[in-house]
Amino acid sequence: MSQTSRDIVEAYSKKKSDINEHLLAIFDEAAAVEPKLIVELGTRGGESTRTLAEAAKIYGADFISVDIDDAGTASDYLKWRFVKSDDIKFAKKFPEFCAENSLPSQIDLLFIDTSHKYRQTKREIKYWLPFLSPKARVIFHDTNLKAWDNKRGVIRAIEKLVETKFDESYNFELTFKNWHIKHFANCNGLAVLHKAG
Ligand SMILES: C[S@@+](CC[C@H](N)C(=O)[O-])C[C@H]1O[C@@H](n2cnc3c(N)ncnc32)[C@H](O)[C@@H]1O
Repeated sequence: MSQTSRDIVEAYSKKKSDINEHLLAIFDEAAAVEPKLIVELGTRGGESTRTLAEAAKIYGADFISVDIDDAGTASDYLKWRFVKSDDIKFAKKFPEFCAENSLPSQIDLLFIDTSHKYRQTKREIKYWLPFLSPKARVIFHDTNLKAWDNKRGVIRAIEKLVETKFDESYNFELTFKNWHIKHFANCNGLAVLHKAG
């Protein structure tokens, strides 16, 4: 039997990292939206990048990764572009960048995994969520960070978005303020959001 994209991601997920337990869920969420455009904020060594590239390949989707540091070799997917920039600075140029590069103007899968700080995550929500397509999903990593005290930065920014409080040490699935939220507490926490209804 030939190896599928999911098999490839399953193999990635066997290698221990700060995100490995979520790679299959990230792949499944990305593939489920049948994306035309995927955007990743925070690339580093490319664990999530290689996973999202496998989902992008299935649909021939364009895929943009953004990192303030150089991470331009994280993927060899032909429709992958790496942008070395602060993600908020890039958000301000994003419509122009898409038009210049003949890319779709709306994002179907947005993956956020940068500083994990409250103010920065709030800014990412403010500047990037307006680019989502109606069917889009947004994935946040590090909603349940224990390794260092980020003062609940990521989950607090999500709480602000949906105007409610969560206990991120649990798995949950809830709808608030027109957002459906699926939360996984393991492996530093992962939240998957999409517009309800
Ligand atoms: C946790 S790592 C990303 C890990 C990656 N998603 C993976 O799965 O391997 C966080 C990354 O966010 C980047 N970063 C932090 N602040 C940023 C910002 N304001 N704009 C863009 N990238 C940023 C860092 O340089 C770092 O590479």
